[in-house]
Amino acid sequence: MALINPSILSADFARLAEEAKAVEGADWLHVDVMDNHFVPNLTLGVPVVESLSKATDTPLDLHLMIEDPDRWAPRYVEAGAGSVTFHVEAAAAPVRLAREIRAQGARASMALKPATPIEPYEDLLPELDMLLIMTVEPGFGGQAFLDIMLPKIRRTRELISRHGLELWLQVDGGVSADTIERCAEAGADVFVAGSAVYGADDPAKAVRDLREKAAA
Ligand code: DX5
Ligand code: ZN
Repeated sequence: MALINPSILSADFARLAEEAKAVEGADWLHVDVMDNHFVPNLTLGVPVVESLSKATDTPLDLHLMIEDPDRWAPRYVEAGAGSVTFHVEAAAAPVRLAREIRAQGARASMALKPATPIEPYEDLLPELDMLLIMTVEPGFGGQAFLDIMLPKIRRTRELISRHGLELWLQVDGGVSADTIERCAEAGADVFVAGSAVYGADDPAKAVRDLREKAAA
């Protein structure tokens, strides 16, 4: 399996509905929510997600780079998200939060910044539908892929297999035609791509090309 989730962070924010339509063959649309506290950048909030979910048939993959996700994540499910990722570094009660997201009917996902190891969270894996391993420092699109994250992707894939779990393993940051094969080989199966999709002349074709490379 290889899912390609274009990140609208690299799209034109004045034309979000059109930009969402431009990648309608994609599996999910990745939406980066930043609050200028957890990361030094600010993007969008609940009202925009509500409108976006009505403007596209592609399910929304929310990536919350915000403080207090315990309070906000449920609001994004209500706004129409099919999957909500919170950062473990920001969550006060990750198990309770994952259960709440699932109880609302969405997929629950947890993200790790580059310096956050997976091992302390091994016991939480059964509570999750997806784990996100950041391959850049969160906050901005267009950064270079951190190769040093490949061993963490590999170790996480091993843990998932050892526990016999079904959860998806997502990578986000610097994923492109040049780096996606390394990520797939290490065990990732959900790929977020911002600049590699929206920076291309034909975003829909970029999605197809990435999917082909990841599955190779
Ligand atoms: C960065 C965001 C990413 C970003 C990726 O903090 O989480 O989703 O859009 O952009 P690229 O693919 O350009 O690195
Ligand atoms: Zn993201």
